[in-house]
Amino acid sequence: MADRTKYVLDEDRIPRAWYNIAADLPVPPPPVLNPGTGQPIGPADLAPLFPMEVIKQVVSTEREIEIPEPVRDAYRLYRPSPLYRAHRLERALDTPAHIYYKYEGGSPSGSHKPNTALAQAFYAREEGVTRLATETGAGQWGSALAFAGAVFGLEVKVYMVRASYDQKPYRRVLMETYGASVVASPSLDTEYGRNVLAATPDHTGSLGLAISEAIQDTVTHPGTKYSLGSVFDFVLLHQTVIGQESIEQMAMAGEEPDVIIGCAGGGSNFAGLTFPWLGRTFRDGAEYRVIAAEPEAAPSLTRGVYAYDFGDTARMTPLVKMHTLGSDFIPEPIHAGGLRYHGMSPLVSLLKEEGNIEARSVHQRACFEAGVLFARTEGILPAPEPTHALKVAIDEALEAKEAGEARVILFNMCGHGHFDLTAYQRYLDGTLEDYEYPTEKVAEALAALPRV
Ligand SMILES: Cc1ncc(COP(=O)(O)O)c(C=O)c1O
Repeated sequence: MADRTKYVLDEDRIPRAWYNIAADLPVPPPPVLNPGTGQPIGPADLAPLFPMEVIKQVVSTEREIEIPEPVRDAYRLYRPSPLYRAHRLERALDTPAHIYYKYEGGSPSGSHKPNTALAQAFYAREEGVTRLATETGAGQWGSALAFAGAVFGLEVKVYMVRASYDQKPYRRVLMETYGASVVASPSLDTEYGRNVLAATPDHTGSLGLAISEAIQDTVTHPGTKYSLGSVFDFVLLHQTVIGQESIEQMAMAGEEPDVIIGCAGGGSNFAGLTFPWLGRTFRDGAEYRVIAAEPEAAPSLTRGVYAYDFGDTARMTPLVKMHTLGSDFIPEPIHAGGLRYHGMSPLVSLLKEEGNIEARSVHQRACFEAGVLFARTEGILPAPEPTHALKVAIDEALEAKEAGEARVILFNMCGHGHFDLTAYQRYLDGTLEDYEYPTEKVAEALAALPRV
């Protein structure tokens, strides 16, 4: 019999708790600061934006945080997600490496993002909130929150980065089908957006800018809370269902990974896959090489500085210590819209700073080349974001071949690319371009870092 291709868990194996890495971190994370006072913020500072239950999760040091049953029940629509052994990709690469991928593209909205969207929408509804405001880069997060809003009966307003809004009109239609309302950011719907448009009418937008608009929307609309799809600790926490399932599935396959890889925009799918494995490292000394893959056009982990910065462009968020290219930095309009972010999750940044994880940056054309090979071998058309993880996985498999080594590689194929066909078309007809690392723009943005 041929080796097994899919490792599938039964519905009752959906994890009952999220894994909180704060319980196992060897070094505690630096505090989040109030930009006005320079002092650590408390739950009261975050209360206007987030449901209290997720704020409690940010300060918790419990290793396991129970998943509420209505959220776990909604997870049943698509979880557990399958783990695949990429036999056909391995054969195409002629590598002795064993390549496994966790596939999150089978969720209703097409990526890992509903894992946290459902949790955030549920907690908001429990606290009497009727409307959520958010930003979206690739459109994947906005679609996930729109879906979660439909599940839990909440209105959803999405500020979609202009570059993605233009590249992916059907993502907007999907969000509207779920019942959300969507505008291109910068928009005329917030004061900040109107100011940006007055100065730069053809602005392509950025995640940092769309976050500012969503926050401004939240504080000016009663009954509204802000939701976000990455960066914050509680978002990463909700994604740990991915890694927990993968531990059980790798055991079914009878293998331990040598290398674990995720793409990193704000860090949530990367953390979701890798934190439960890193927890083993911290508790039992298990050794894995853990790699974050990011775009050359926005390489916060590989080329940014580790400093206190704002999460958004208008400087409305608290100050967090993270790898950043400067909150004024607007990345080039690459097609991996979800990776077009100036910063990185503070937890992922801390792990990089402490040497627990590595990071690599890759150009978009090489990523699309990997994505096309994956489609032609494994059949799945990847979203542009996880092609970064795929490209690093392929490089690892080719290195293993060079070294004559049976390396076991696990990566997160965190979304499908069915709404990214414009980008694939441009790659296939040879008009997709790479962007060099924008040295001057980053230097300018870093010069404006807040003094802490
Ligand atoms: C499919 C996909 N992958 C990855 C990302 C990047 O986010 P994160 O680093 O939080 O996983 C996004 C963000 O929009 C996305 O849509």
